[in-house]
Amino acid sequence: MAARFDGKVAFVTGAGSGIGRRSALSFAAEGATVVVADHNSETADQTVKTIEDNGGRASAVNVDVTDSASVRNGVQTAVSRHGSLDIAHNNAGIFPMPGAFADTEESTWHSVIAINLTGVALCMKHEINHMRENGGGVIVNAGSNIGDHARFGGVGPYVASKAGVSNMSRSAARDHIQDGIRINVVSPGASDTKMTFLPGESEEDRAARLTGGIPAGRLADPSEIVSAVLWLASDEASFVVGHDLVVDGGASA
Ligand SMILES: NC(=O)c1ccc[n+]([C@@H]2O[C@H](COP(=O)([O-])OP(=O)(O)OC[C@H]3O[C@@H](n4cnc5c(N)ncnc54)[C@H](O)[C@@H]3O)[C@@H](O)[C@H]2O)c1
Repeated sequence: MAARFDGKVAFVTGAGSGIGRRSALSFAAEGATVVVADHNSETADQTVKTIEDNGGRASAVNVDVTDSASVRNGVQTAVSRHGSLDIAHNNAGIFPMPGAFADTEESTWHSVIAINLTGVALCMKHEINHMRENGGGVIVNAGSNIGDHARFGGVGPYVASKAGVSNMSRSAARDHIQDGIRINVVSPGASDTKMTFLPGESEEDRAARLTGGIPAGRLADPSEIVSAVLWLASDEASFVVGHDLVVDGGASA
């Protein structure tokens, strides 16, 4: 039986860790050739090795999503190595918890917006420029379930960046569906990745801190977020355009 992404090239940012790594492994397991894009070359190479050890196809490219030239080079490298770029999961992000809004360093604001929001914008721009020449494609951007409703304090820059991703993606989805490009968002809730640990925190302490607000009573496994990403990237979601799919165990229900 043909796999869902046979013959496709998938570009995944932040694929050296967490949800992005799981996404890269899953796209590869379902037939895609994966371009593992991260600013950390060591972890990106580890993701590529795991894919290859499992019989898949992948290559790494060093991309800093805050730098337009770096993103453009990443997209061009993907196309020149593998012939096209059909799917993008713009997933790279950071989650600092700087505390009360007025006490937040301006540098924190700028770095969160640069990576989480401008990074997605730059990726979309260069991906779309290729995809519309190439007859179309699919883009899934990383939002967050606290993007539409903060639910707790101390994370002003982050929630602003993720609200931006959500609405920017809706606008871009309207602009480019006639180019054959479908754009959507997956907004995870708290997930079992390094991002959700406070410095030095144990798994038990993290669970005690985070699971109270999650009706499912636990954090998401990255594979549960990635299932939604792959569905949106697949032809099964062919009429889903400009949607923000929240996957959070009921936290925002
Ligand atoms: N983990 C969660 O609970 C959770 C919840 C909601 C949303 N998200 C979102 O999901 C995405 C992935 O989160 P995760 O938990 O897997 O995080 P993670 O920290 O495990 O991985 C993030 C990856 O992004 C890469 N990255 C950071 N800055 C970059 C840059 N400038 N250029 C290129 N790569 C860069 C890192 O090197 C890393 O590999 C993020 O956008 C995050 O905001 C995560």
